[in-house]
Amino acid sequence: MTHRTRTRTPLRGPRAAAIAALAALLTVSLTACGQEARGGSRYRPDDGKGGTIGLAMPTKSSERWIADGRNMAEQFQKAGYKTDLQYGDDKVENQIAQIENMITKGRRLLVVAAIDGSALTEVLQRAHDAGIPVISYDRLIMGTENVDYYASFDNERVGELQAGYIVDRLNLGEPGKGSNERHTIELFAGSPDDNNTKYFWNGAMKVLRPYLASGQLVVRSRQTKMSQATTLRWDGGTAQKRMDDLISKSYAEERVDAVLSPYDGISIGIISALKSAGYGTKDQPLPVVTGQDAELASVKSIIRGEQTQTVFKDTRKLAAQTVRMGDAVLNGKKPQVNNTSDYNNGKKTVPSYLLKPVSIDRTNTSLLVDEGYFTAGQLT
Ligand code: GAL
Repeated sequence: MTHRTRTRTPLRGPRAAAIAALAALLTVSLTACGQEARGGSRYRPDDGKGGTIGLAMPTKSSERWIADGRNMAEQFQKAGYKTDLQYGDDKVENQIAQIENMITKGRRLLVVAAIDGSALTEVLQRAHDAGIPVISYDRLIMGTENVDYYASFDNERVGELQAGYIVDRLNLGEPGKGSNERHTIELFAGSPDDNNTKYFWNGAMKVLRPYLASGQLVVRSRQTKMSQATTLRWDGGTAQKRMDDLISKSYAEERVDAVLSPYDGISIGIISALKSAGYGTKDQPLPVVTGQDAELASVKSIIRGEQTQTVFKDTRKLAAQTVRMGDAVLNGKKPQVNNTSDYNNGKKTVPSYLLKPVSIDRTNTSLLVDEGYFTAGQLT
């Protein structure tokens, strides 16, 4: 191969002026390509890398969402994008305004973990009109065609793990065949406006129902419908009040042996109520209390012997999956999915990628250290 050596003599005269003009033109058009379009971007699958991704997260009041936002921002940046990360402070109108702003600023892709899964129809229509694809993150966005993909964990499995843990810990055996001993249980569900809530509930109730039918498990409060057990915005304080109430109305003469809790923040509230009522001593140990998210406070509580179980969902893996999906969409490729049947949002079945949740109790908290989710120091 021959290489031509370039002369470095500075150019002068009309030819130099023409080249300078061409260079200026090129610079302008390149800058324009790199800039985000104002007033709504065009979805340009062939554009490849670059542009800004809008990340709309629900709240900073829970560790997990802080980690989700941070992980996604880091990983999208590594993949060559800029990021615009916003938290809605658990207020639906904030989240809508943030998404509107992202559309106006011409974000190329929106990743949304909805506060209220059914409240985004109008704003996502605007995203669609502006040609911006949408990935529903962890929580399915409901009632709109304008959600392209869903990345989450196997939500029904989460409920099965929580309920299965209670069955094992209470040694219930096969429904109707194992121990005849009667155990009491109370049931908590997540936020009624979060689509995940019913998946967690259905997964758990699939496991618990046969034991309720056989009388091995008894809900003394009789609050066995999901609508009676929900906790608006997953709020620990709300759960604590409900648990206070359940204890005083239904457990004056008998102890509660297990509490199905769908999320660590709720578990912490439940445990506070139980402790105020005198549980947590040698004579009156705490009941089995489940959870979800492996939040640091709850993992420490598990190690202390208070909360009994949680479900670990590695937010780093969820972020990585979402980044892969987003990058594929923006490059005109089909993202990998592993579920095309279970997540119908009322308008369409959203192609989904579901990761596997893992049950954690005192015996395997070390897994969280081995996986690098926490350091050993954080857990002591
Ligand atoms: C759900 C999520 C759970 C938990 C909960 C409260 O949507 O799937 O893992 O984080 O919100 O934040």
